[in-house]
This record gives sequence, C-alpha cells and structure tokens, in this order.
Amino acid sequence: VSLTAFLSYAPEDAAAGETVRAWLAAEQVAVTRGSPSPAGGPLSQTTLQTLGVARAVVVLLSQAAEADDHVRREMLYALGNGRPIIPVQLGDLNAEGWMRHLLENERRVDARPILRETAQPAITQAVKAALSDGRVIAMLNIKGGVGKTVLAANLFAAAHLLNHRSIAFIDLDPQHNLTQFFLPATERNRRRDANETLYSVFATKGPASIPKAKFARLAAPLNRGRAANKPRLDLVLGDERLFEYTLDMISPRDKEESFARFHALIASLRAQYDAVVIDTNPCATFLTRCAVTAADHIVAPVRPEKYSLMGLNLLEQITRMIRQRPVAPEEFSVLLNGFGERSRMTGGDIDIHTRQEIESAPFFGSALLPMAIPFSVMLRAPLADRYAANPVNTTAIMRFSQRALKETLTSAVAAIFARADAVPPMPAQPAAPQPVPVDHAPVVAQDA
Ligand SMILES: Nc1ncnc2c1ncn2[C@@H]1O[C@H](COP(=O)(O)OP(=O)(O)O)[C@@H](O)[C@H]1O
Ligand SMILES: [Mg+2]
Repeated sequence: VSLTAFLSYAPEDAAAGETVRAWLAAEQVAVTRGSPSPAGGPLSQTTLQTLGVARAVVVLLSQAAEADDHVRREMLYALGNGRPIIPVQLGDLNAEGWMRHLLENERRVDARPILRETAQPAITQAVKAALSDGRVIAMLNIKGGVGKTVLAANLFAAAHLLNHRSIAFIDLDPQHNLTQFFLPATERNRRRDANETLYSVFATKGPASIPKAKFARLAAPLNRGRAANKPRLDLVLGDERLFEYTLDMISPRDKEESFARFHALIASLRAQYDAVVIDTNPCATFLTRCAVTAADHIVAPVRPEKYSLMGLNLLEQITRMIRQRPVAPEEFSVLLNGFGERSRMTGGDIDIHTRQEIESAPFFGSALLPMAIPFSVMLRAPLADRYAANPVNTTAIMRFSQRALKETLTSAVAAIFARADAVPPMPAQPAAPQPVPVDHAPVVAQDA
C-alpha cells in the first residue's frame, strides 16, 4: 500500500518545494505533483486524478502562491474532494485573500521566513499524521427510508463493540434520527442549549456559533462507562435547525464559511478516530455537498424495490457533479438491506430481482457487497424509544439481536472498512467538468 502526499506550490517557490519533497521522501512518503497546464486553463487530467486520490495535500503558502491560479485551483479541488490539507506558510499573506481558510487550518506549519530548516520535523510530522488519519464514511442514498440511519448506528456500533474501532458519528440530517436513536430527549435538549450540536458548527455568527477551537471536543460520548484509554464511540449531535442549510436562506458567503467550518470539524475528528461516520438527509442539498466532499467512502443502503438502481445511478451522478471528477466503484459500498421480509407477498422475487439488477449494472455491480442485511424486527422497531434511556444502548443491540443479524452486520462493516481503507484507483474516464470556486460550486437542486 503506498500512501501519497500531493505537493502544491507556485513556480517561484520551486526551491522550497524541492526541499519539502526531499524531506518527505526521506521519511518514505511518496510525493506527487500536478502536471503543468496552460495558464488560466483547466487542471490537467493527471492533476485531477493524483490529487483526487492523495491521502494528504501539502501546499506552500506565499504571496506568489496566492497570485498563482494553478495553486488556487488545486486547493479548491482538494477542498472539494475532502483531502486533508497541510498548509506550510513561507511568507506573510493577505488575511482576506482566498488562502484565509488555509491559514486557519489547525495543521498549518509556520515555516517563515521562506522555509526555515527547523520547520522540517513539524512538516513531516503533520504529513505523517494526516496519512494515518481515520477514514470518513458517509451513509448516502438520495432515497429516504432505505436504512441509512439504522444501519449507520448498528454497523458501526458492531465495529466498535466487536472490533474495537473508535468511531465518531456526525448526524447531518436535520431530522436527526441518529441522535434520537442514541440519546434521550433530556440529553439532547441539554446539549442543544449548551451549543453542543452540529448546528453550532454550521452557524457562522449569532449566539449559537462556537469557535473552531471547540470542534475537537464537540462529540458526545455514547459509551459513558468506558475506560479512559479505550476506543471511543461518540456522536456530534444533529439539530433540526440544520434545515436552514437545506433552503435558500443562507448567503453564499456564509455557506462558504459553514462549508469550511464543517471541513475543519472533519479534519479534527479524523485525526482522533478510526472512522468518522456521517449520516445524511435523503435529498440532495448543501448538506449533501458537505457530506460528499468530506467522504472517502460512501455506503449506499438499498432496499429491495423496483427503482433502486435508478436511485443509485442518481447518487453516482450527484457525487460526480459535486466532486467535479469521475468517481470509481471502489469509492462506494452498496449494501442490500431488508431482505427476506416474509410478510411481503412478492418478498423473495423482489429480493432476487434487486440483487441481479445491481449485480449486472456496469458501475455499481462491483460496488455491491455480497451479504444482505436481513429484514428484522430489531431494526424495524423505533429503537429510540426502546433504548434511548440507556446510553450504552449499542451493547443492548448487540446482545439481544439474533445471531444471524449480528454476524451479517459484523461481516458487512468489515467489508466496508476494507473498501474504505484501500487505496482508491485512478478513475478511468476523462473528467469533463472543471473546478469552480467554492462559493459558486453547484448546490444540487433543493428538494424541500
Ligand atoms: N433491515 C431492516 N429490517 C427492518 N426494518 C428496517 C430495516 N432497515 C431499516 N428499517 C426500518 O425502516 C425505516 C427507515 O430506516 P432509516 O434507517 O430511518 O432510513 P433512512 O435513514 O435511510 O431514511 C425505519 O423505521 C427502520 O427501523
Ligand atoms: Mg435517516
């Protein structure tokens, strides 16, 4: 497995760039760079591909870089593809320029003036930390009611309880079912009043907004009994006020700020946990863009029903639009859910039909996981009511659920981690669309 860091700098900073490359190479970090593209023209295909799969992106910040359109485009693309960024500051910059979000990045290394020799350990350490970051996994399907929430909770609770993975959930759905699933109303209200929900990350001003310094400790523990050094199972709470971000109420400038703040939250969580699991809202909104740009891997649950492949193809299209590059099947796991429902007359037929249709689909055929999550009363019941009083409810889920269900959940989440940990391949097809500035990026049509 070779993990690569992408290095971006202006031609004027070539000497510093070469030094940083040599420092990283000495630490066995493979370094890639963008290939030249015509001035003002689109980024080359090779650049899009190498940048899209790099595990970390190092950018040398200087006035020359700030004036360099190529560096700016590479950074917009890296941000739009959720790549962890390590800004290395070589000189003084315009605090209001496009680099301002990079200056606020907590991984920033101040190497001024030019490139101090003494910055070497900080740079190599920051890059190695980024390379060992946890994976960001989004539960996503444009359709509602397919099991995104119930499977997010049960799959990753299984990974935590049985395989000791540390997990941070982010509840990005304004309906916040995942939060209701894990926490009782008293706890939800207490944390909402204390500005400890995801809304306080999105809010850029007003009394609910919190400083970025608080993001690292925002997630609430779900397994309170755990020992201090044990793997964590935590949740950044959802909040119904996130609805504001699914409508046209927020100015583009504020949205850009919220987008950067959400990515700052992701950066700080992925540094602390094996996996950051994002549960999303069913339609395609600004919130979907936040999830898709942050995710290394997308899990799409599919119920046995007639148009499930159509829904998946829409998901591929939306992901490609948001990321502004071709996507590969390896970036997805399609998980069949709710199979073997006995009460349904056509149960068996529709199960077989759905599996066959996806299996033979050109793109998603190879993203389909072999196992199917069975239809189960354990997953059907409104679990919030049943388990919410007990924060260690996940233990209850695992103890009481049938063995078959438990085994399928465990093997499915192992398969998801294997796919999410793999080094993604270079996408095959050419990328047609060009990067656009974050504040003008397409926010996919609203579905109110
Ligand atoms: N495998 C399953 N067996 C039985 N019920 C399920 C299963 N998966 C999901 N459900 C139920 O279907 C409903 C929708 O699931 P949910 O996770 O909320 O979907 P989504 O988050 O995609 O909207 C919930 O009531 C849930 O309990
Ligand atoms: Mg849901």
